[in-house]
Amino acid sequence: MKTLTRKTGLRGTLTVPGDKSISHRAVMFGALAEGTTTIHGFLKGADCLSTIGCFRAMGIDIEEKDDTIYVHGKGLHGLNAPSKTLDVGNSGTTTRLISGILAGQPFSSELSGDASLNSRPMKRVITPLTMMHADIKSKNGDGCAPLIIHGKPLTAIHYDSPVASAQVKSCVLLAGLYADGDTSVTEPALSRDHTERMLRSFGADIRTEGTTCTITPPKSLHAQHIEVPGDISSAAFFIVAALITPNSDVLIQNVGINPTRAGILEVCRNMEADITLENVREAGGEPVADLRVRTSRLKGTVIEGDIIPALIDELPVIALMACFAEGKTIIRDAHELRVKESDRIAIVSENLTAMGADVIPTDDGFIINSKADGETGLHDASIQCAMDHRIAMTFAIAGVNADGETIITDSDCVDVSYPDFFRQLDTLCGQQ
Ligand code: S3P
Repeated sequence: MKTLTRKTGLRGTLTVPGDKSISHRAVMFGALAEGTTTIHGFLKGADCLSTIGCFRAMGIDIEEKDDTIYVHGKGLHGLNAPSKTLDVGNSGTTTRLISGILAGQPFSSELSGDASLNSRPMKRVITPLTMMHADIKSKNGDGCAPLIIHGKPLTAIHYDSPVASAQVKSCVLLAGLYADGDTSVTEPALSRDHTERMLRSFGADIRTEGTTCTITPPKSLHAQHIEVPGDISSAAFFIVAALITPNSDVLIQNVGINPTRAGILEVCRNMEADITLENVREAGGEPVADLRVRTSRLKGTVIEGDIIPALIDELPVIALMACFAEGKTIIRDAHELRVKESDRIAIVSENLTAMGADVIPTDDGFIINSKADGETGLHDASIQCAMDHRIAMTFAIAGVNADGETIITDSDCVDVSYPDFFRQLDTLCGQQ
């Protein structure tokens, strides 16, 4: 449990943990490559540790030395049958990406996670994998994990995905590694493209045209050195904290600003936020920058359409930011928020309302009004976060901008993506 009170400003420099999406992929592709992949800046959060656990259970030797992860890959056909159910914890990325890999193996496997994970929709990967003639079933017949997969040779397909989801796209492309020809995926809007970038660097022939991505099954993948940039989804909490907390000036170093992830920066610009990008560079095939963020007078905005996949994980904290903006903010086209680690539309609305904000949940987003001139009048509440890491962090930032004592009961869930979050927040608030 954590108790948060109003702070007078965030000041200083911080480095956020490594990107979660990139960390997962580095381990997975490293395991399937020939040779030893080294990963620098790996996120040691519970989700990525679940991915490591699954590959260790399939015979991949993964070591950690001096802050570098060494994945001793055994090639595309080197995984062993796991001797027990693979534990995917709270991680949707582990589950959906690994399903694509397991579908093409010459062995059977079972995947299961925690209560939240086992209630998230898996039909979105069962459907395309079944089209590829994979044998994958939801154990309880409810379209959720546990999943039972009997690996077999796969048929190449073109998949028209109904959702802009990098997990679905990546699942199909990874199954495509084991298919009998070119496999392609078209999505309604471009989702994060880390799989495409990284698989290409491992030597796969993978092409993107518009929102269609095609992979030709490679003979082999080759080990790489991966520099994992800081996770913009983690930086988002401190971006918003610095913008809405008076007297703040924060430098967030080494943040990944891949255009398929950086929608929050465009929204902040539209809201007239004071953010400058410094030292823009490329690291490990991904664009990276340092972000200088200062307290700003924000304006309401409309967030909709193709930008949604580029900021989907940031919408809870963007909704909080909108409470501090002058006027109305409308967020639409974000149905996917309802099937994340929690129903984030419901839970964000309930908690913001409990703190005194003016928020109307809609089917696919929110309508948010600031009370007057960006004065929210937020006050304390006991926050229910349904063990959802991003909800806990969003309301910690709310708590440093609210009267009274904001209580976050299951605050340990931040370990899923940001184990050091509360310590860094205290440091920037001058409390350590
Ligand atoms: C992720 C894709 C997104 C995102 C999740 C990580 C990934 O999920 O919300 O946190 O690493 O591919 P969807 O594919 O469900 O949109």
